[in-house]
Amino acid sequence: MTRRVAILISGRGSNMASLIEAAQAASFPAEIALVLSNRPDAEGLERAKAAGIATLAIDHKAFPDRESFDRVLDAALVEHDIAFICLAGFMRVLTDWFVERWAGRMINIHPSLLPLYRGTQTHRRALADGVLVHGCTVHFVVPELDAGPIIAQAVVPVVPDDTEESLAARVIVQEHQLYPQALRMICDGTARLENGRVMFSRGWDASGTLHSPRDAVRNGSQ
Ligand code: GRF
Repeated sequence: MTRRVAILISGRGSNMASLIEAAQAASFPAEIALVLSNRPDAEGLERAKAAGIATLAIDHKAFPDRESFDRVLDAALVEHDIAFICLAGFMRVLTDWFVERWAGRMINIHPSLLPLYRGTQTHRRALADGVLVHGCTVHFVVPELDAGPIIAQAVVPVVPDDTEESLAARVIVQEHQLYPQALRMICDGTARLENGRVMFSRGWDASGTLHSPRDAVRNGSQ
């Protein structure tokens, strides 16, 4: 079954592009039905249009408060018959009302190994701490920022002489692989949110990717 997915962006949309590309495969269980931005000038909107995807800009500045913006956002998603939402560089805090309405149906990609480095400037903070590994995480969205149950993670090394830019470049390559894998998992039912935890229904091929080893062992895939 192909699930209708909306991608929410605010900027360049490189993760959005990787999701669009992955969803072009006939076997992919999702169709990118809508790309929506809170910024009318987001570069990613043009990229989505060029790929033949329906786009919508809802400028948050036109609304008096977060909730009125979120209600219009929600109405647009319902109108487009959206089953799942991918946040991909969407730089707008969503209200608890919206997050709870889409609980278990909205995921986000974050450029760190959560729960380390929630928020911004993740690469700079990782370098400042001298960690030897860094990476990215896809998680279900919950009201607390960058705190939702983890679906998938990818790890990269931090090497001597890394700069914020070189580390970001290494992480984004992994983001572009990880996000489509995670979207596939929620659309085909491999991963689902149950009582605040991610349940994995069967093992999956995650070469180069760390995910829940406990579930993989239990399911006999490793
Ligand atoms: C990515 O690093 C993502 O992890 C974070 O915002 C950035 C968006 O980049 N949430 P892009 O717009 O997908 O290129």
